[in-house]
Amino acid sequence: MIQRDVIIACDFKSAEDTFRFLDLFKAEQRKPFLKIGMELFYAEGPAIVREIKRRGHRIFLDLKLHDIPNTVKKAMAVLSRLDVDMCNVHAAGTIDMMRAALEGLTREDGSRPLLIAVTQLTSTSEERMRRELLIDASINDTIVQYARNTKEAGLDGVVCSPLEAGMVKAACGAGFLTVTPGVRFADGDAGDQVRITTPARAREIGSDFIVVGRPITAAADPVAAYRRCVAEFVGEMR
Ligand code: C5P
Repeated sequence: MIQRDVIIACDFKSAEDTFRFLDLFKAEQRKPFLKIGMELFYAEGPAIVREIKRRGHRIFLDLKLHDIPNTVKKAMAVLSRLDVDMCNVHAAGTIDMMRAALEGLTREDGSRPLLIAVTQLTSTSEERMRRELLIDASINDTIVQYARNTKEAGLDGVVCSPLEAGMVKAACGAGFLTVTPGVRFADGDAGDQVRITTPARAREIGSDFIVVGRPITAAADPVAAYRRCVAEFVGEMR
């Protein structure tokens, strides 16, 4: 059974900025689950993943792989050896590619990190899908179909907007994970996010993990903001 949790998006440009932020959490009993994206990984390489793991954090390595199945399989084997806890691919890479990713990720003892897929990026509009990608379907139908493909390939779930989590659960079952960015406190600043919701509402709709960046990283007191997020989403401060 997967435990609902808050994942902090560590969208920092360097190891120095990241560790300055993480040092704030040194006294916290439970180390926050962290998301490392392309910017930080490409800047600092695997060393930053190892160091953050050494400090006791779980890591969602958000590199969104999308290539031919064989390449993705081999790349996933490398990420698996890095001992991350969650990684992802683009569902648009097809069921075959997702199966290959899963194979590459699975260690000799059968264990593996969670593997989820990006359906349609929230930056892709229905209009662009039709005009540029020649996908003649609604964005919601595309998201549900990509989620179904992801499930058929044997992955654990998808990244989607919290507002889409209910629809994905209805199509793929309650046990299919939804990892959702686009979360803001009710009294917070939306920034550039459009389709947003609060941690409490994300929980009601059915998110398993919320990915929260600036509401925590840019807060005057990031530890207090993290605690508030956990209290609203998980229902308790552990
Ligand atoms: O700062 P904020 O809470 O908006 O950060 C959200 C994080 O989730 C960022 O790392 C962003 O890149 C990521 N993300 C997103 N929307 C998606 C996919 C990923 O906001 N559809």
